[in-house]
Amino acid sequence: DEGAVLQPRPAVVTVMGHVDHGKTSLLDALRQTSVAAKEAGGITQHLGAFVVEMPSGASITFLDTPGHAAFSAMRARGAAVTDIVVLVVAADDGVMPQTLEAMAHAQVANVPIVVAINKCDKPSADPERVRIQLGTEGLLLEDLGGDVQVVQVSAKTKLGLDKLEEALLLQAEIMDLKARIDGPSQAYVVEARLDRGRGPLATAIVKSGTLACGQYIVVGSEWGRIRSIRDMLGRATSSGRPAMPVEIEGLKGLPMAGDDVVVVDSEERARMLSNGRKKKLEKDRLLKASEERI
Ligand code: GTP
Ligand code: NA
Ligand code: MG
Repeated sequence: DEGAVLQPRPAVVTVMGHVDHGKTSLLDALRQTSVAAKEAGGITQHLGAFVVEMPSGASITFLDTPGHAAFSAMRARGAAVTDIVVLVVAADDGVMPQTLEAMAHAQVANVPIVVAINKCDKPSADPERVRIQLGTEGLLLEDLGGDVQVVQVSAKTKLGLDKLEEALLLQAEIMDLKARIDGPSQAYVVEARLDRGRGPLATAIVKSGTLACGQYIVVGSEWGRIRSIRDMLGRATSSGRPAMPVEIEGLKGLPMAGDDVVVVDSEERARMLSNGRKKKLEKDRLLKASEERI
């Protein structure tokens, strides 16, 4: 990317952890204290991706993930599109299987972790035990001389939310996040759904470049031409900028979370690439099925 113009961009933060440890509650609490939250209403909630404007004026894009064991693939993809993972651990429950699995996904993707020990309002909360458990699992916490920040929070009482924001902004600052805003766009799908009237809709996060209406795109093995782009408040916008979640309309089929978005220069290229990828998927599927029979 020699000579490309780089601009600072917001961090993309994915919240992970064991089921019911309070990931969504924590995001709701952060959203309530933010400016964007008040405008967003219910729209962002089901999208699982939204932008929080911090009191400092900086903004952060947050992605939510489910903690249920069945959603391992979603956590793996979440870790791949993200800059920072917030590992939520309930202070009463402690480190659990999906805590460790989320930690592993972040480490494999080489994504820094910020630990949020949640539910610290509970009488049965034992944040010290959580610290020891995480240390035992090899996480190098800052209070033990490592560089992983730990904050104690309560989504219920909003205790420590300011500290969590500070920790995230500090981590983002260390990473000096920049993106190329011109040239071909690189983006990833974080969620996709079928809308009765509008057809397949993909929520994507742009990593670099700019997505624009009219572009031909291949998303995973699907293709389409961008008909409209909306921001997380449902407002039409002509382009998607780095780290901003946008909803793309105009795909012919439904992509999957984690799929990459590739911009191509013609419908023919889009169809070709999509067909090639579909064939490869089918081949892989048959191969896997035959391996399972052996
Ligand atoms: P999954 O998405 O299903 O994995 O769960 P989650 O991690 O998003 O947890 P969720 O936010 O749904 O919260 C689970 C339960 O814990 C709910 O009953 C919340 O009200 C409760 N809870 C979340 N945060 C706190 C907290 O800080 N203190 C207390 N006391 N309860 C909390
Ligand atoms: Na839950
Ligand atoms: Mg949740």
